[in-house]
Amino acid sequence: MTTILVIGSGAMGRQIGMAAAVAGFTTTVRDVDPGAVTAAETDMRGWLDGRVAKGRLSAEQAADAGGRIRFTTELEEPAAHADLVIEAATEKLDVKRAIFTDLDRLTPDHAILATNSSTLGSSAVADATGRPDRVCNLHFFNPALVMRAVENVRNEHTSDETVATVSAVVRALGKSPVLLTREVPGFVANRLLAAVRNEALELYADGVASFEDIDVAARDALGHPMGPFELMDLVGIDVSYLIRQAAFEQSGDPQDLPHPLVTAKYEAGEYGRKTGKGWYDHD
Ligand code: 3HC
Repeated sequence: MTTILVIGSGAMGRQIGMAAAVAGFTTTVRDVDPGAVTAAETDMRGWLDGRVAKGRLSAEQAADAGGRIRFTTELEEPAAHADLVIEAATEKLDVKRAIFTDLDRLTPDHAILATNSSTLGSSAVADATGRPDRVCNLHFFNPALVMRAVENVRNEHTSDETVATVSAVVRALGKSPVLLTREVPGFVANRLLAAVRNEALELYADGVASFEDIDVAARDALGHPMGPFELMDLVGIDVSYLIRQAAFEQSGDPQDLPHPLVTAKYEAGEYGRKTGKGWYDHD
């Protein structure tokens, strides 16, 4: 495994790609949208400069990592050389299935096709390929250049060899694999997160404390790096909403629906940092 292709250059795809390049993998980040490709490249080359300025990487290490990554709209050529593909495109099943069908056609037989999806188990795309044993979830956390765990979720066809190979890649990225033996909605980390978030939303909705103070409690009483409301703003209230909506669609259990306060923010277009306003103002 030396060559990684990341599909999608959004907040997750670009950072997954850069993490791979820094770790020594030859990496391509591909997006259909030329504007998104340029934005991702500018952001990530700026990140490399920032690492050098902060003394976290030497100028040589940054230049090497920068030389190992490219950002492009091309698919066929990078796919033909990929050992591992990590799909981080939009969370729409029909789009992901079309991507996996193309990847199955364009990548070498040995290539492993992984999805970064937090809502769809890879079984939802594995049957769009002729290699379901080499398909799994590799679920990274935001910001992917910082967060050290990656959930490796097997579907019923994923082979032991695939699990072992992607776990080795995750370790080579300097991260810790979390192996899930089967697909469950929310996987592990988002379920833990949801439990805290639900309590936070209920406490706020009941008027027990302000959302700012609930964040203070999470940070300063429990040592969380961020409070649940700050974290929703970081990850995106739209993402939180869509994860719960997808959980509800899978389970049919109204308890899985997004909290009404989250739905209100979603409908108001207040997604957090990405729109400048969520729970907090980010201007
Ligand atoms: N991109 C890249 N690097 C970043 C970053 C970003 N967006 N934000 C912070 N960093 C880096 C900084 O450069 C700094 O690196 P350095 O120490 O090597 O110089 C380091 O992270 C610490 O940053 P700061 O000092 O600016 O700020 P904090 O100490 O407050 O850390 C944080 C910021 C890392 C975001 C921390 O608050 C944190 O860990 N928050 C929790 C994040 C979390 O829970 N993520 C999971 C979300 S759930 C998810 O992603 C699942 C999905 O399915 C929705």
